[in-house]
Amino acid sequence: MTTLRHVPSVGAGVDRVDGPAKVTGAAAYPGDVHYPDLAHAALVRSTIAAGRVRAITTDAAEAVPGVLAVLTHANAPRVERAPDTALGAAPPPPLRDDRIIHHGQYLAVVVAETAEAANEAARLVRVDYEPAEALLDPHDPRAETLTDPARLDTARGDAATALASADVLVEATYTTPEETNNPLGPFTTVAAWDGTALTVHDSTQWPYAVRAALARAFDVPENGVQVLARHVGGGFGAGLRVWPHVVLAALAARVTGRPVRLELTRPQMFTGVGHRPSTVQRVRIGATRDGDLVGVEHESTSVTAIEDDTIEPAAAGTSNAYACPNVATRDRAVRLHLPSPGPMRAPGEAQGNFALECALDELAHELRMDPLQLRLRNHADVQQTSGLPWSSNALRDAYEQGAARFGWHRRTPDPGSMRDGRWLVGLGMAGVTFPWYQQPCRARASMDLRGTALVRSAVTDIGTGTATVMTQLAADLLGLPLARVRFDLGDTDMPMAPQAGGSGLTGALGSAVHAACRQLVEAFLDLVWDDPGSPLRGLGPADVTVAEGRIHRTGQPALGESYTDILARHGVHELTADGDSAPPRPEDIGMAPAGAFGARFVEVRVDPSLGLLRVSRVVTAVDAGRVLNAKTATSQIVGGTVGGIGMALMERTERDPGTGRVADATLGDYLVPVHADVPEMEVLFVGGPDPVNPAGTKGVGEIGLVGVAAAVANAVFHATGRRVRDLPITVEDLL
Ligand code: MOS
Repeated sequence: MTTLRHVPSVGAGVDRVDGPAKVTGAAAYPGDVHYPDLAHAALVRSTIAAGRVRAITTDAAEAVPGVLAVLTHANAPRVERAPDTALGAAPPPPLRDDRIIHHGQYLAVVVAETAEAANEAARLVRVDYEPAEALLDPHDPRAETLTDPARLDTARGDAATALASADVLVEATYTTPEETNNPLGPFTTVAAWDGTALTVHDSTQWPYAVRAALARAFDVPENGVQVLARHVGGGFGAGLRVWPHVVLAALAARVTGRPVRLELTRPQMFTGVGHRPSTVQRVRIGATRDGDLVGVEHESTSVTAIEDDTIEPAAAGTSNAYACPNVATRDRAVRLHLPSPGPMRAPGEAQGNFALECALDELAHELRMDPLQLRLRNHADVQQTSGLPWSSNALRDAYEQGAARFGWHRRTPDPGSMRDGRWLVGLGMAGVTFPWYQQPCRARASMDLRGTALVRSAVTDIGTGTATVMTQLAADLLGLPLARVRFDLGDTDMPMAPQAGGSGLTGALGSAVHAACRQLVEAFLDLVWDDPGSPLRGLGPADVTVAEGRIHRTGQPALGESYTDILARHGVHELTADGDSAPPRPEDIGMAPAGAFGARFVEVRVDPSLGLLRVSRVVTAVDAGRVLNAKTATSQIVGGTVGGIGMALMERTERDPGTGRVADATLGDYLVPVHADVPEMEVLFVGGPDPVNPAGTKGVGEIGLVGVAAAVANAVFHATGRRVRDLPITVEDLL
């Protein structure tokens, strides 16, 4: 017999398993779902930010041919607010009464035979408003301030005293604007009732949360609600909360007795599925003349909605970013008449890192110290908040290898000292310490008589490559070629899974898949435990190796048999096993589970006579633990970097200060980077498997965005001597 060697698929840059289905149009997104008697819904939104609906007139809308129902607060059945999730309380339920708390709030939903009829009728709904004065300015003294509702604030040592006596003090205020997630696929919900059973196809990052919300809303059992999200056209965090339109689609289907499709328009995507809230951040950093940090204070005030407790954790991340004995972080939020915010890729981290890493650059300039040396000097060798050692930390490698690849040593320290013809050249950098996050997860693995493994869990893949990396992982754990593993997802009839978010899914799901595959191999060993015909008789999981679709005694490839032979001989069609994972408790494992770390190096070019700013080079080095797929992991970092360039130079949700209306609610007006704005980007992975989860991963979904804005702003300062503390950095800032 030839030697049996499993060629590992983990690590390789395997193409996406769902790529062909996506590029050929075979992949059905929620908007592609069809029912023979499908009806269509359209939404009517408030054109004021605060007040009441005095009257709402629907006669003209109801008279449009094909209209089945017009639901308003006056006639819609009441629904319950969704239960709290790991991300906090749900947004208020739709159509509950006549109160208006933000521009764009849904005031009616029209259901019709066609989308055209529904849209036409929606335009004919007349709303008579009783406006109230809206709070729209974060500095409005009448706005209520939330003080630490999520218990995010941190304090160690005595920051105030340390700052008062520091040799060098940097104190500055940074602002970041409201941004809108803008996944490419407009969010769509298709809802169909069959008695009290509800089936919903939804653009969500968290099918189980949608199931729980709809079961609560309609007072039906959770196991009578099936939520499907096999393909989702992106999310960037917008799909992490259960938004009112999802409930409205199910409500419309219930009232009309028809399956209903509700597809948000692009402008509705700006008001109905969350956004990155604006922040005002004050940072104070004190240091010795030698560059040792002695005190840091970081205070952020973000914006939340009138009835929402979501608070953006912008300052919190500073608590663990650097070694410093005296640190205080405070996150506040003010309530305004704006739509509910929501997570947007690296929520809080994206903005907080901008402020902290710019302030460090200002400190380095004050100290006449190289910005990279300042970071290395204050590297957090242990997790600062707990004092525990990191489960893994290759941030120093990221700095050193990233700097070498970038050519950081060529940087001359003085602002304006590097030129290329008419361009001022600036080199800037930033460090990133991303938090660890993990939620409980379950996966199920099956093997059938054809020798094909099916692994499944109710997760979604928002385009990150989750299905691909889990296929690779299962293939290695079961000793199968990739083609004999199928990973299925996006269905709440599958085992429970957490959200595709917080950069925590690969660890949680990878651990569950690991457990499920191990359990499945054990199930095979149990089957042959006293089977005299099996060379595996009496063996336990520690005694065997899997390769080429077989289980064999470790070191003795001839002493084994295939999964299919075992099943056939025992007359079993299929074996199935579940595996669970749960986040470890730091105190149990004696270390601080580490998220990813990163170092970011950016070159910009500024034409001072025109104010033109180009990002011309980006090198990113990331410690992401074990990289399951070099291609999809790199794509996450590259895609995140593009988002970071958007944050640095372009993105800003513009609100009319008088009405709160979004003034740039299209992809023509809301600027995001295009190819011409995106330079060569290099990504290096450093470090190795993290011991906290058996998959060894640390998550790459969000860190790619973090640090870009600071590195760009720092590079702009290096190029021009201008310190821009308010994002985005535009032509006006550089003229
Ligand atoms: Mo992300 S904001 O965790 O989808």
